Amino acid sequence: MKLAFIGDIVGRPGRVMIKEHLKKLRREHAIDFVIANYENASHGFGLTVKNAHELLESGIDCMSGGNHTWDKKDILPLLESLPLLRPHNYPEGVPGSGCRIFDVAGEKLAVLNIMGHYGMPYVDNAFRCARDTVAQLKAEGVKHIFLDFHAEASSEKRGMMMLLQGQVSGIMGTHTHVGSDDLQIAHGTAYVTDIGLSGCRDNVIGMDAKVPLERFLTGMAGRFEVPEKCRKILQIAIMNLEEGRCTEAFKLKIFDDGRTIRTDAWREG
Ligand code: FE2
Repeated sequence: MKLAFIGDIVGRPGRVMIKEHLKKLRREHAIDFVIANYENASHGFGLTVKNAHELLESGIDCMSGGNHTWDKKDILPLLESLPLLRPHNYPEGVPGSGCRIFDVAGEKLAVLNIMGHYGMPYVDNAFRCARDTVAQLKAEGVKHIFLDFHAEASSEKRGMMMLLQGQVSGIMGTHTHVGSDDLQIAHGTAYVTDIGLSGCRDNVIGMDAKVPLERFLTGMAGRFEVPEKCRKILQIAIMNLEEGRCTEAFKLKIFDDGRTIRTDAWREG
């Protein structure tokens, strides 16, 4: 099974890159299933109904969320009707789910979305939730499990990798928007601390630099905006999965000026 993962899609620039490149990438690399993180896809915060449909029609099969899942309230009914996840470790009773099982190329693939703790809303223990959910999925005979771990701290992400390596097909970090250079296959688990945003690459985490710089210089709050014009990037990991293990993984950084940079995963174990 060929699986692809795209991290935080930030605003229109991110959506434009998906629309322009994803279907071609699917054909070129024979990708069976694409997961992407939607939580910043609409104006940088949350996801509108219109953008949810637009992204799913652009070649994404399932979308995961994070702390901004709830920013656009019209998404609530879509958590049930569309293949959209929110972090699984929100307390019981919160709408939606953070775990779904899909039939892909004749096999079962579970997509799991968990949120970390540092700098995040109060949620149930991320590590216990991940460990117990993975154990349950394996008991149900689900072979392929992919986790989008939406967290700020690289230590939490490394910890999750150490907890689940060898048990799941992939763990990829989102939320920081800044890609980390540690793509690896550890005991059959594809891992990267953060895959990085898809959207503007020449600002501050995909947002117009003016407001964050004002905040840093004065301490005064302001509302982040996605720039109208910017230099764009699409960041995507492509994995080959066999018998629940990742056998090959690489990341593509696709720039809107025509450049592509490929990074292959290193192997551990
Ligand atoms: Fe986030």
